[in-house]
Amino acid sequence: MKLLKTILVPAAAMALSCAQLSAVSIVPQPSVIKENRSIVLLPSDRLSVYAGDAVLKPVGKVWAESLEKIYEPGREKLATGFERIVSDTVLPEVKLTGNESKADVRLYLDPSLAVEEYVMEVSQDGVSIKGGTEKGVWWGLQSLSQILIQAASSSKPGEPLRTSGLYIQDKPHFAYRGAMLDCCRHFFTVDEVKRYIDILAVHKLNTLHWHLTDDQGWRIEIEKYPLLTQTGAVRKETKVGHYNDASAGYDGTPYGEGCYYTHKDIKEVLEYASARQITVIPEIEMPGHAVAALASYPWLGCTGGPYEVRTTWGISDDVFCIGKESTFGFLEDVLDEVCELFPSEYIHIGGDECPAIRWESCPDCQKRMKEEGLENERQLQGYLLHRIEKYLNAKGRKIIGWDEILEGGVTPTATVMSWRGPKGGINAAKQGNDVVMTPNNYFYLDYYQTADPQASGEPLGIGGYVSLEKCYSFDPYDQLDENTKKHIKGIQANTWAEYLKVFDHVQHMDLPRFSALAEVAWSENKTDYDQFLSRVTASMKPVYEYFGFIYAPYVFEGIK
Ligand code: ACM
Ligand code: ZN
Repeated sequence: MKLLKTILVPAAAMALSCAQLSAVSIVPQPSVIKENRSIVLLPSDRLSVYAGDAVLKPVGKVWAESLEKIYEPGREKLATGFERIVSDTVLPEVKLTGNESKADVRLYLDPSLAVEEYVMEVSQDGVSIKGGTEKGVWWGLQSLSQILIQAASSSKPGEPLRTSGLYIQDKPHFAYRGAMLDCCRHFFTVDEVKRYIDILAVHKLNTLHWHLTDDQGWRIEIEKYPLLTQTGAVRKETKVGHYNDASAGYDGTPYGEGCYYTHKDIKEVLEYASARQITVIPEIEMPGHAVAALASYPWLGCTGGPYEVRTTWGISDDVFCIGKESTFGFLEDVLDEVCELFPSEYIHIGGDECPAIRWESCPDCQKRMKEEGLENERQLQGYLLHRIEKYLNAKGRKIIGWDEILEGGVTPTATVMSWRGPKGGINAAKQGNDVVMTPNNYFYLDYYQTADPQASGEPLGIGGYVSLEKCYSFDPYDQLDENTKKHIKGIQANTWAEYLKVFDHVQHMDLPRFSALAEVAWSENKTDYDQFLSRVTASMKPVYEYFGFIYAPYVFEGIK
């Protein structure tokens, strides 16, 4: 092994219990981490990686590229008002090699492991990572990044990196570990979405839920309906200040011209995500949160308009008309293009916050209710969702929707995203539906992260208070028994962007709270909060500072 040595101290390997903090910290906490008292030296200039299977070559290559530093070390006050801190930690240059015996890091597939599982050994023989598939190997490499960053930050320049002998066996608790990014209220560029994917990857999050359509902007190109991104992407102005603050008025500035993703952009994002083992689920909102579509094609609404792309936040009474067949023609055309682009098993169809007032006085909607024997407008909403579900099922896809989809009578095959607290998810699991838990009181990351946001200097936000500790305290199985637990497929955090005008602010809201999300979603043996915070401080803060991710400083300054 080139420049690689282990100094063995005569001691048996120690399995570290949850309560103990090892010399090497990893977030999320691995299933098993055994550290021995040997000191392993790794080269500080160049690290060679051997891929023991063709599918692992791109994984090793993408990991090597991901470690290339893109910002100069130092503290930089950004034009957006946020601060970027970049450590002076230098990692070795990572190169792929065909020489297995001389490689510093060796990657293998081991079909006896689960899909996302990995086993890593760090010893005098170098680093070996075995994964059930390339996904497992990729997550193992994320752990190795943390180990290397910790080793490099405590090593003297020019000297080998020092770490401990390690055995890690690790696999995720939940198969779905997600983050939703709202690109409608404010738009984030393809490069920013890719950066978001980088942020997901270091947290071993495997799903990006991409919120692409809403009242304030339609952000996905649909070739058959070009007005969606000509008219529907642009609002004539935007509410200033908090949406409850009527005195603050509007900014008078159009927002959103050209702010949408072309098919080419989407393919680029999907390719980037796939190379990082991340699935992208698109969300096309229906029947509510549809004003941008109605402004583009007024025949989609009950009244025929005119409509304008919404300039403030909250909920609109104007929604898709469910009475007219032309609405279904439109939605199916849109979903055809969406399914062409996105290979995900799930398509998110929204379903939240949909007032029924327009349907109540729409002759077409009332006719539909009569013909279909629907007793109320919630059942009318259920009619639309069931029809769309059938359409997507015929294309081999599954639907996922916000917990309001339970109200119109949900089919057993729909997956429910529980956002109004965990209660919708608990009810859905009890009635046999699969669930992704994304409760606002734990995982709405547009909520403030300190108790006194003004005193701590948090930027204007929607409200609420979700501390890192609160995120970490989430129990996905609360009130569920052995028969219903199996329906909890995963956990997700949502970053709504009404108040997040720039990507720096998105990062500030998500980090370090993504660390808590990651651990709740990944680790079956979550530790106590203080131990977790120690690991975040020892491992994730240096990761954020290595990559130049912008993070909120509050918990590191002792502010709750
Ligand atoms: C939501 O926050 N309206 C899903
Ligand atoms: Zn109608």
